[in-house]
Formats: sequence, structure tokens, C-alpha cells
Amino acid sequence: MAVVSLDGARVLVIGGSSGFGEATAARAAAEGAQVTIASRSEDKLHAAASRIGHQCQTAAVDVRDGDAIAALLARLGTVDHIVLSAGELPPPGPLSLEHMHEQANARFWSVIHVARNATFGPNGSLTLVTGAATLRPPKGMAALSAIGAAVNALSRGLAQDLAPVRVNTVIPGAADTPLWDMLPADKKAERMEQIGRGLPVGRVGQADDVALQIIACMVNPFMTGSLVVLDGGGSI
Ligand SMILES: NC(=O)c1ccc[n+]([C@@H]2O[C@H](COP(=O)([O-])OP(=O)(O)OC[C@H]3O[C@@H](n4cnc5c(N)ncnc54)[C@H](OP(=O)(O)O)[C@@H]3O)[C@@H](O)[C@H]2O)c1
Repeated sequence: MAVVSLDGARVLVIGGSSGFGEATAARAAAEGAQVTIASRSEDKLHAAASRIGHQCQTAAVDVRDGDAIAALLARLGTVDHIVLSAGELPPPGPLSLEHMHEQANARFWSVIHVARNATFGPNGSLTLVTGAATLRPPKGMAALSAIGAAVNALSRGLAQDLAPVRVNTVIPGAADTPLWDMLPADKKAERMEQIGRGLPVGRVGQADDVALQIIACMVNPFMTGSLVVLDGGGSI
């Protein structure tokens, strides 16, 4: 069966103003898709849209707000492919209950709101992004890891419930994106170098490595219910 063409496809990337989402939006736009990127900050959205080009559209949304997700999807109408890569790290240290709820809203409930409100075109797909911590929780990250692990499970259930829409999740290891910008630039570079040295591939992941896999989830017509670990061999 032929690869699903992105030429002319309507693609929504929630979390598309930075990192994995921006790189995915750029790849989809270059393939001829009509791309809308969504996130909270209008400034970040406009800056990313001008980097992406190809008449990339923008939409402000906070994924912690289910009504805002529903309103965005109602406004956009039918969309062929949706990518949900929005997320930010909580403040360092023990997670407060408030932050746990916030993370669950942003990472888990957002998927439910997308699944309940999206209208997909034929050959449509939904691609989620979690992280390697969902499979091997680092010390002190039990709640955050469990929220992501619930998304992994939700993704496989949605592959049944939303079929024929295909639903997949990419599970990246650490990657060099603005997510790490809370570190000073030299410390971030050191950390990325150190992570890369410990991996079989010999370098840390880049946003575009993950984007390539997300695009594969969109265009492979046989791919659904897949949880794809993409960590440069870090989990071996
Ligand atoms: N980079 C890594 O090492 C790594 C590894 C494994 C998993 N992950 C996960 O992968 C996801 C994407 O990471 P990334 O590296 O691409 O991060 P990033 O470069 O910081 O991008 C995050 C994107 O999400 C948006 N966002 C954050 N909170 C949002 C909210 N409440 N509502 C709407 N949009 C929101 C941000 O834009 P605004 O600020 O404008 O909202 C931005 O567009 C995150 O969930 C992250 O935890 C990352």
C-alpha cells in the first residue's frame, strides 16, 4: 500500500512552536502539508511560523484547558494529522500535588480532549509524544513518569477506539531542544555532550530525529497502536 501523502494534507501540531513539534511542522510543511502550529505563546508561534515558512498558520491554545482544545478543533474542522508534543518540565524538586494535576492536565487529559473533539480526514492519524522516563522512571519522577505511562496505554486504547484513524506514540530519550533551556548555555552543552557520549549512536538526539519518526507515524498506513522508543540506544 502506498505511503500516505502529506501533499495538501491538513496537519495540526500542538506544541509546534519549539523542539520536536516545530521540527515536525517544518518537515510536514516541506512535504506540501497545510500546517497549523499551536501552543500558548503568540510570540513563540509567530517566530516559529516565520522559520517554518510555507504559509504555516498559528493558533494559541493551552493544552491544560479542555474547552480551549475543543474550541480550536471546532474552528479548524477536519484535520488529517494531529501531533501532540506540547509539554514542559515542572519546577525541580519534589512535585507538589498542584503540579501533578497540572502535568496530568497538560499531558494526559489533553489527549482525551483531542480524541473526543477532533474530526479526522481519511487516512488520518494522531501521534503523541511521551518520553523514556515512562519506561524507566528516574528517581523522584514517579508521578510524572506514571502520567506519561498512562498516555502510552491510552494511545494503544485509542488506536482501537478511533480506528481507522491511526494512533501512535513516539517515546524519545533526551534530546537537545529548548526544553533544556532552564540550564545555562554552557551547562546545557556539557550535559548534551555527556548524554551523547553514553549512547551507542555517539551523540545526543536532535529535534529533527524525533520529527522524522513522527512523520513516519503519519505516513505509514500500517502503523497504529505502536509505541516507538527513539533514544539512540539509551535503553539497551
Ligand atoms: N527534549 C527532551 O529531552 C525530551 C525527551 C523526552 C520527552 N520529551 C517531551 O517531549 C515533549 C516536547 O519536548 P520538546 O523538547 O519539543 O520541548 P520544547 O522545545 O520546550 O517545546 C515544547 C512545546 O510545547 C508547548 N507547550 C508547553 N506547554 C504547553 C501548554 N500548556 N499548552 C500548549 N502548548 C504548550 C511550547 O510552547 P509554549 O511555551 O508557547 O506553550 C512548545 O511549543 C515534552 O512533553 C517533553 O517533556 C522531551
